[in-house]
Amino acid sequence: MAKLKAGVLISGTGTNLQALLGAARASDYPAEIVVVISNKADAGGLEKARAAGVPARVVDHRAYADRPAFDAAVDEALRESGCELVCLAGFMRVLSEGFVERWRDRLINIHPSLLPAFRGLDAQAQALAAGVRIAGCSVHFVRANVDAGPIIVQGAVPVFEGDDAESLSARILAVEHRIYPLAVRLIGEGRVSVNGDTVRIKDGGSGTGCALISPAEDIA
Ligand code: GRF
Repeated sequence: MAKLKAGVLISGTGTNLQALLGAARASDYPAEIVVVISNKADAGGLEKARAAGVPARVVDHRAYADRPAFDAAVDEALRESGCELVCLAGFMRVLSEGFVERWRDRLINIHPSLLPAFRGLDAQAQALAAGVRIAGCSVHFVRANVDAGPIIVQGAVPVFEGDDAESLSARILAVEHRIYPLAVRLIGEGRVSVNGDTVRIKDGGSGTGCALISPAEDIA
């Protein structure tokens, strides 16, 4: 079966991008990364893409008059690559409603919280401030509201006494690297459908798309 063509939008380091590139190396992985686009020329993820032999492009938001013009340029670059699924991976620009609608149910994001809790910036610090005992990350379809939309996969981690935003972020990030490739695989296998505000996973046994507690051995 033909592989799903995925494009990844980044602004920074690109460790989630790296996880997706790594997963896509497996011959039986149902998706391939066809393009990586960054709005910043110095994003570390661009090198990761090039090292994996994936076309890496810069679309600098500062070169465009407004948000819709920038989004149109990103849209064009995605279409030129034949992209069918857009994965936001640390992409720090809010996308216009027009772009989000054009890619409806073909545009996904990863966010470092168990949504719908702690949307927006500094989600890990928000979780600590709220005193939650379990934190985590979510891969979801993108809607016009920031960090909102049908949830595809979530992963959970414990919060420990003495955690700060840095230690909690690192624990969550390790799980992000597992659930993002999982979400793209489920979509690539054609098992994900959107039903109103929620996602249905075909043939999803217990545990599909949810509740990875990591590191499990650390839970007292
Ligand atoms: C991740 O924490 C992701 O959840 C958030 O931005 C960060 C990107 O990290 N949206 P990286 O660039 O993938 O390392």
